[in-house]
Amino acid sequence: MEIKQVMVIGAGQMGSGIAQVCAAGGYDVFLHDLEESLTEQGKQGIKERLEREVEKERISDADKERILRRIQPSTDLSNAENVDIVIEAAVENMEVKKNLFQQLDNRAPAHAILATNTSSLPITEIAAMTKRAEKVIGMHFMNPVPIMKLVEIIRGLQTSDETYKAVAEMASSLKKTSVEVNDFPGFVSNRILMPMINEAIFTLYEGVSSAEDIDEVMKLGMNHPMGPITLADFIGLDTCLYIMETLHNELGDDKYRPCPLLRKYVKAGWLGKKSGRGFYAYD
Ligand code: NAI
Repeated sequence: MEIKQVMVIGAGQMGSGIAQVCAAGGYDVFLHDLEESLTEQGKQGIKERLEREVEKERISDADKERILRRIQPSTDLSNAENVDIVIEAAVENMEVKKNLFQQLDNRAPAHAILATNTSSLPITEIAAMTKRAEKVIGMHFMNPVPIMKLVEIIRGLQTSDETYKAVAEMASSLKKTSVEVNDFPGFVSNRILMPMINEAIFTLYEGVSSAEDIDEVMKLGMNHPMGPITLADFIGLDTCLYIMETLHNELGDDKYRPCPLLRKYVKAGWLGKKSGRGFYAYD
């Protein structure tokens, strides 16, 4: 099947990045969110990123304008009537996603693929809300989307080979490398990454070392480009906690127990870089 028109749901940090790479890849994109101010904010972020690319002479001014013209803000879900694929990147909340997929199933044309960028929620359960489970799939981009090369493609229990192939081809047209993963909690990326981040937070909580020194150990000692405590702040501590809770509940092993310090920070509203305060303070 040919994919031309894309709808990205959620104009936050992931959705705006996904809309940007899709438009740069030649697709027409609806960037959808609950309010116009949010889609405008998302589009403004894309504009600023592209302007930096022009300054660095990676793209021309005409490229920037062409990419921006392909992105159309949307606050009306009935725009889904004209799309070939939806990539949902709304908040990491099962009720919100189930509700969206039900509505999208009613509106999108029969051939359209419904993909989700969820970090950890079961694709199979989201698919069960629709009458097209074979066309529902996980398309998990990494943050920041325009920079990170990987897309983890997650097959739900009923995802068809045709859907998988179309999404893998789209990922490669976006100059991303994709990997095929089956639907298990946390998939591959967060099944491995999040327990490491959680363990780093336990190391801090138990007074083994400071946040700065824990990050230094992993950067200089293990050659990670960013320490795990800084990475947690960048991902968002609420998102980290949500994923740990999913791993703990779904896999049932105590090794996935979220660190109490992570819970405490989320309760305090210290959500990391996006709220100005996490394990580190941001301007
Ligand atoms: P965010 O909080 O920056 O953006 C979420 C956006 O979704 C907001 O603009 C919000 O208004 C919008 N939204 C909420 N409910 C909606 C609805 N019913 N309809 C339309 N829009 C709605 O969150 P972020 O970080 O962009 O995460 C989005 C998704 O991507 C989540 O599922 C998350 O788990 C996943 N993800 C996040 C990564 C990260 O590093 N933050 C990495 C990979 C995946």
